[in-house]
Amino acid sequence: MAARKTDFEPPVTVALTGASGAQYGLRLIDRLVAANHEVWVMISKAAHLVIDTETETRLPAQPRRLTEALIERCGAHAGQVRCFAREDWMAPVASGSGAPSSMVICPCSTGTLSAVATGASNNLIERAADVALKERRQLILVPREAPLSAIHLEHMLALTRMGAVILPAAPGFYHKPQSIDDMIDFIVARILNQLGVKHALLPRWGESE
Ligand SMILES: Cc1cc2nc3c(=O)[nH]c(=O)nc-3n(C[C@H](O)[C@H](O)[C@H](O)COP(=O)(O)O)c2cc1C
Repeated sequence: MAARKTDFEPPVTVALTGASGAQYGLRLIDRLVAANHEVWVMISKAAHLVIDTETETRLPAQPRRLTEALIERCGAHAGQVRCFAREDWMAPVASGSGAPSSMVICPCSTGTLSAVATGASNNLIERAADVALKERRQLILVPREAPLSAIHLEHMLALTRMGAVILPAAPGFYHKPQSIDDMIDFIVARILNQLGVKHALLPRWGESE
């Protein structure tokens, strides 16, 4: 049983959707927990399939069991991670009065990207992103697709103009990655920089190691 603690940093919403790169989202949750943040998590049905396909991690779909599994996986304290179901419209993320000041969709499928750009709000991830946009809160989307169609590019431009940040899952190579984990951390470090969360994943440009 994880120790109970209450003095967490503010919650950050992290949604994993069904684009390739589930590792980015799982590592992001892990690093936010390590930085003592509360983390509110949503995982789409397709994201569960991608997690099963791309990683050795097996996560239950049911929110309470998923919460327990993530707490164990990340070594989080009880209450530090909360998971919400696809149509849990009573969850705090579904309203401007309850949603955290930051949300990250990582990885972000092109389907969810377009749903967010057009305000579909057909599931809790889309609704939470819609709330972030209407409340002018921080919204970061980490899409992964190649090549990109005009639909994808137009939606990315529209979201950027609405104030969201498009942070493509496109790791650089100038830090000479030695492993896949190094490439994952390259993207996660950039997300944490956007969130203003301190980390030691990579030195910032101009800083020596
Ligand atoms: C193994 C796997 C990899 C996928 N990779 C991508 C991808 O890189 N980018 C993408 O936009 N969709 C990808 N898809 C398709 C999405 O999962 C699919 O469009 C789904 O409807 C997205 O739903 P969601 O946005 O609710 O998660 C992938 C699907 C699977 C099963």
